[in-house]
Amino acid sequence: MGDLMENTKDILNKAKSGKYAIPQFNINNLEWTRFVLEECEINNSPVILGVSEGAAKYMGGYNVVYAIVTSLIESLKIKIPVCLHLDHGSTFEACKNAIDAGFTSVMIDASKYDLDENIRITKEVVEYARLHDVTVEAEVGHVGGEEDGIAAEVAYAKVEDAVMLYKETNVDLFAPALGSVHGLYKGEPKLDFQRMKEISEKTNIPLVLHGGSGIPDDLIVKAIKSGICKININTELQISWHEAVKDFVKNNENAYDPRKVIKSGEANLKKSVTEKIKLLGSNNKA
Ligand code: 13P
Repeated sequence: MGDLMENTKDILNKAKSGKYAIPQFNINNLEWTRFVLEECEINNSPVILGVSEGAAKYMGGYNVVYAIVTSLIESLKIKIPVCLHLDHGSTFEACKNAIDAGFTSVMIDASKYDLDENIRITKEVVEYARLHDVTVEAEVGHVGGEEDGIAAEVAYAKVEDAVMLYKETNVDLFAPALGSVHGLYKGEPKLDFQRMKEISEKTNIPLVLHGGSGIPDDLIVKAIKSGICKININTELQISWHEAVKDFVKNNENAYDPRKVIKSGEANLKKSVTEKIKLLGSNNKA
């Protein structure tokens, strides 16, 4: 890990004791990364930049992502703590590649397997990550919705499974699936706050809420009170960016310069970033 970025678990442990949450904003390209970094800097908020395997592939690989993020931190003189996180790593190899490229944390998502196999794979990742001082997040139960174009059903995490996985692997962060989904909700999300609290008390590590888009503000606040320290937000930024881009394209049919098209969503995206930071309470925590 270079000097330009922070260890993810350090900023999350601080958030845990301060009772606020750090946003994980997923990034898709150079501009997205710049917009998010600039807006987090203005709000003096630490940030975790989330990169799915699909997004890393789209951007040209883990090394390219690392180069984009660290170059922007340097060139834009970004001072806030920035972490670079592999979102939903599906295999040991994906996590290893991200760690080798310089990511400060990885999520190993072996939640599609049974508990024993989830524990085995998570343990392997934790052992490798420890050698590089990299933070590891694991998932228990299964977050539903659509991620990287693949749809999945929600399976609520069991408290005993979470405790067992934690004891066996010594993982740093937990993403227990407790009713949130990736993408848009049909109706109000049914989050299990009681289980969230119990898992938080029994493991005492920072918890992660996936599917942070579209959850009403009061439920986000309640989740933070129940042990959530990292909230992943992707779809909501994409939608607010797209709203502005749609209007721009409609009113400027002949605008073919990609810089103008992509930039037309900048203000909207940045507005959503600030709203989320304020809701999570991570402003002025850098
Ligand atoms: P949303 O796209 O629903 O915000 O979920 C993001 C996420 O959880 C990434 O892991």
